[in-house]
Amino acid sequence: MNPTPEREALVLSQYGHLWAKTAEKAEGLLGAGETELNRIILMMRRDFGADFSDPVLIKKNQERDLERRKTGFILDRQHIRSVEVDSPTATLMIEALKMRTLMELTRGAERIVELGAGWGKNLFKLWLYGAPLDAEYHALELTPEARNLAKRVAQSAAPKMPFFTHAFDYYRPDFSMFAEAKPTVVFSHHSLEQIPSVGERLFEAIKGIPGLIRVVHLEPVGFQVPGATWLENVRPDRMEYIDSLNRAFATKRDQNLNLYPILRSMELEGSIRLTRVRKHFCSILLKNATTLLVWEPNGTPSLTTPETQRDDLQEPPPQPSVWTRLRRKVGKRILGETNAGSQIH
Ligand SMILES: C[S@@+](CC[C@H](N)C(=O)[O-])C[C@H]1O[C@@H](n2cnc3c(N)ncnc32)[C@H](O)[C@@H]1O
Repeated sequence: MNPTPEREALVLSQYGHLWAKTAEKAEGLLGAGETELNRIILMMRRDFGADFSDPVLIKKNQERDLERRKTGFILDRQHIRSVEVDSPTATLMIEALKMRTLMELTRGAERIVELGAGWGKNLFKLWLYGAPLDAEYHALELTPEARNLAKRVAQSAAPKMPFFTHAFDYYRPDFSMFAEAKPTVVFSHHSLEQIPSVGERLFEAIKGIPGLIRVVHLEPVGFQVPGATWLENVRPDRMEYIDSLNRAFATKRDQNLNLYPILRSMELEGSIRLTRVRKHFCSILLKNATTLLVWEPNGTPSLTTPETQRDDLQEPPPQPSVWTRLRRKVGKRILGETNAGSQIH
């Protein structure tokens, strides 16, 4: 499906602006003589280093922090309250989980490709987490501001990293830059979210990359995925509540509404196999939680087949009987507990 011209202009101007302001932060650091990649990518983040020069971006970040304190975040199948954990600490915990997961899923790849890569922060972080020295790292991105920034960071602080940038638009997927067959893992992180309705054409084009092993999506699409077993030790109504928050946020922002259904229908047709579906895998903002979807083209032998984990195919837990529910209610009354505020821990 093609974007409306208004949507295309909005995405280009919003992200062009964000990445231009991030480039200002980077220039400040590089101009002061900073050469350590780890310090540069940390200080360029919203939560760290100098504030952005734009008051609108500063306000937006403050609002995000306040919201995260209020609603908590998701990590390791648990909904965690922010009591002592400040926002930057939560960011680092979630980042570690995502990077460890990507490290596992890119093992054995000689070409690692991120779609909608922004300024390449995930590829740089993968490198810092220990991804292979001799693999190629490709940042595919729509906005020239982010591609230029990625090149500037790579040249200044990661000169040994085999890092490449390419112009890329999800609506016109073209992977002709990858002519040679090499074990390849493609991933996206909160970028396919920008495509309200994605068509099979994109996935067919990805399947055409010579040497493709696996595709990993870390995208806020958990509300599209069936299943009520993805949080530990909570009642289904809390999971439904988080689902509804995510659905409302994606709808309001005109974000993706069909990534999981389209991959599932391709699986049922036999053209791909879904190996991991981890619904609302983790979140920085509870209403925009990240879901992990991993697929492989059918008929392609994997280098290593990762363990299959499917939250979408789990049986719902048995509902407690009326008597059990009644006994629990009476028990709670005796203990003086109430249901107030039970939507969020
Ligand atoms: C939320 S940012 C995420 C960037 C990066 N993946 C990260 O995690 O830092 C979304 C990115 O998607 C890109 N994007 C939006 N629409 C796109 C499109 N049609 N084709 C390719 N990239 C797009 C934006 O320019 C932006 O860099």
